[in-house]
Amino acid sequence: MNEKNKIDVLVGLQWGDEGKGKIVDMLTPKYDVVARFQGGPNAGHTLEFNNQKHVLHLIPSGIFHPDKVNLLGNGMVIDPIAFQKEVEGLRKYIPMEELKKRIVIASGAKLILPVHRILDGANEEAKGDKKIGTTKKGIGPAYTDHVSRNAVLVQDILKDTRTFTNKVNDIQEQHCIALVLQNKKCWDAHALLQELFEFFDAARFMQRFEIVNGPYWLDKQLREGKKVLAEGAQGTLLDINFGSYPFVTSSNTTCGGVCTGLGIAPNRIGKVYGLFKAYCTRVGSGPFPTELGGKQSEEWCATETVKEDATPCASINDPDPFLQGIALRRKGYEFGATTGRLRRCGWLDLPALKYACMINGVTNLIMSKADILSGFETVKICNNYLIDGGFTDEMPMEISELFSPQYKKFPGWDMVTPAKTTPFAEYLKFIENETGLPISIISTGPDRNQIFIRE
Ligand code: IMP
Repeated sequence: MNEKNKIDVLVGLQWGDEGKGKIVDMLTPKYDVVARFQGGPNAGHTLEFNNQKHVLHLIPSGIFHPDKVNLLGNGMVIDPIAFQKEVEGLRKYIPMEELKKRIVIASGAKLILPVHRILDGANEEAKGDKKIGTTKKGIGPAYTDHVSRNAVLVQDILKDTRTFTNKVNDIQEQHCIALVLQNKKCWDAHALLQELFEFFDAARFMQRFEIVNGPYWLDKQLREGKKVLAEGAQGTLLDINFGSYPFVTSSNTTCGGVCTGLGIAPNRIGKVYGLFKAYCTRVGSGPFPTELGGKQSEEWCATETVKEDATPCASINDPDPFLQGIALRRKGYEFGATTGRLRRCGWLDLPALKYACMINGVTNLIMSKADILSGFETVKICNNYLIDGGFTDEMPMEISELFSPQYKKFPGWDMVTPAKTTPFAEYLKFIENETGLPISIISTGPDRNQIFIRE
């Protein structure tokens, strides 16, 4: 096996929202194929060019490049209704005939049925104040059906209409009966039926795209010398096995997910790009040791109706960390691309970053949103946790309030430049020394062109 048949990977190293869309779009010219290996419409990958912002949920972020093929891989959960809407949105920029050339779908990907979205909401409601804060896109229930061997797969769409319809109806019915038995009243049978009609239409729409046997198709691309980039969604700390369980998503967001989600052998993995933000954010519930404003921020961000205009005085240098967090959120525009929710904001967590590098076998780091930290008088990095009177730089299996983050302080900077002797360069050097990895690319704004390459 030579380097040519290897597949490079891009994964998020934090809790998602690291800016994967922009980086994949920027890396795409070097590749022939971009392949999503997990997740579904819970993702919101944002790309900006020509003063236009695009948010992708299911379709890989190589879509805006002609002559590149984008695979929706086996490990994904696809909502046909969301897929159709996304394609319709793209038709404003790319003709349908061209989209059909640029998108292929793996037959083993799983379908999100309308009832999965209802179940997602019902499960969250049942958890009360222990809710995960999911995107309510049906991700967990669709993966649950897969693991319990009941899922409807993309390949089922190709079967005769009656077989496909019966399979979908059976599963919908089983879930509806369970909801009725549990006395869950969070759904409207009429609306659900309407959505089911839409689902069948959208499933037919999916047939207009090439549906392929994912692992064989990718193997063929690699054998022909094509270069493949695997695009992760969410982030390492949301991984079902290695994230802050149970406050995680339902898939393997880490590099191992490339093998299980695309059918790629481990010895075929080449470069692993690990993307992290210069600070941290998290959307939804769950531990976040370096959160600015701690519990107060978590509760503030959980109140979806909250109006941040209520705190016009918040400044990025406010002595109150809660207000500083609000200012950081505004400056970094940290609002969910899929749900619009407020993202909780905090300092870079180095133990968590090192853990993510270890789990993924990162070879190259990429830092995003470095520009957002410009203007801070002091910038902090958590380099240790204090627990039971002792220090550790290991991510605890279960992060609790007993873990107190310890910080190293850095003088702030006015502007991000590639110069080697600025306070920003000190910040980079510290992260590189601690992780033992080069930061090869630095993103300094949302546009394609706002980037420094240091390779
Ligand atoms: P789910 O993936 O919708 O089940 O949500 C599970 C957890 O993952 C919640 O905390 C979500 O906020 C989070 N999550 C899911 N997708 C994303 C994403 O693309 N970016 C950031 N967080 C996400």
